[in-house]
Amino acid sequence: RTVHAHSGAAELGPYRHYMQKEIFEQPRAVADTLEGVQAIVPELFDGLDAEGNTQTAAWRVFKEIDSVLILACGTSYYSGCTAKYWIEAIAGIPCNVEVASEYRYRTSVPNPRTLVVTISQSGETADTLAALRHAQSLGMTHTLTVCNVATSAMVRECELAYITRAGVEIGVASTKAFTTQLLGLFLLTLALAQSKDRLTPEQEAKYLASMRHLPVALQSVLALEPQVISWAEDFASKENALFLGRGMHYPIALEGALKLKEISYIHAEAYPAGELKHGPLALVTSSMPVVTVAPHDELLEKLKSNMQEVRARGGVLYVLADGDSQIESEEGMHVIRMPEHYGALSPILHVVPLQLLAYHTAVARGTDVDKPRNLAKSVTVE
Ligand code: AGP
Repeated sequence: RTVHAHSGAAELGPYRHYMQKEIFEQPRAVADTLEGVQAIVPELFDGLDAEGNTQTAAWRVFKEIDSVLILACGTSYYSGCTAKYWIEAIAGIPCNVEVASEYRYRTSVPNPRTLVVTISQSGETADTLAALRHAQSLGMTHTLTVCNVATSAMVRECELAYITRAGVEIGVASTKAFTTQLLGLFLLTLALAQSKDRLTPEQEAKYLASMRHLPVALQSVLALEPQVISWAEDFASKENALFLGRGMHYPIALEGALKLKEISYIHAEAYPAGELKHGPLALVTSSMPVVTVAPHDELLEKLKSNMQEVRARGGVLYVLADGDSQIESEEGMHVIRMPEHYGALSPILHVVPLQLLAYHTAVARGTDVDKPRNLAKSVTVE
């Protein structure tokens, strides 16, 4: 029997690269990750002991802890930055997020009632594992990981775990792992809120319904791909770009800038929109496109004035606006209209056009999308 090696073509189906395929797999990855989540219960986060037996520890740990410390790298760090807004606003628990390679070497102040949360697609990232072990060495023994590989070192070394069901992620640039991490972190937020008696049954039902609708909402965002491709045609000739966001969408702007950097090699950076006049506005010219994540939330009016600042200096805006907001395309301002505002889970939708923008810009520039130069899928060395 001849064994047919999996030819890339067969696995890629109608897609040109693994990254594109994985961007389009997000509705299914989210649905798979949510499968079996009938209610918010701490058992969702129970880990396995060394012998592989489930330890029903989560409910006890969640009762005991009074703060959260998130440790991660790269894209996983940005999902942690998003989760901070949820954890503090919904669960009412103080939350710090640190870059793993910084935390592991600095002299920090431990709190034994901290829940240390590591986020890692591979579960083998050296800096994140080292940061976890450093936190444990400081006496912080309550640990939980949001991870995409159930058999990884990270899952083995953490007391609790939430395994995302994104499936194998081949593209170096993380996409479906990021959105399923956000889902896992939102579920954790709700479980923590519940353990602190801050989640009513009505809120739980509302959030669960919103999560269950995500695959449909993601499909409608993916249908915007043709409009994103026309943006990518503009970006392909640029050497710099600025990404702006406010609140829990600022980490989404950071993730969009990282995606563009790592696969198209365009220098891109993200700023909280309120920081524009504290320096970066000096950079804005017609050759510095400004992407603005502009959900229809309570910060939109302030964001609109930041957008005016950009346009007054000849900057060209590329705006992701929710369907129910009054932002129209006009001279110097390109608008892609997203579905109507999705509330707390809006960051999961707004990152998808940014993934597509990075992908199609890279394709237009002819870079190696799935294996960008100088990068590895899992950084297992320092
Ligand atoms: C993201 O697109 C990059 N591939 C990189 O930043 C990655 O997120 C980072 O290396 C962390 O990897 P991990 O999630 O496997 O720990």
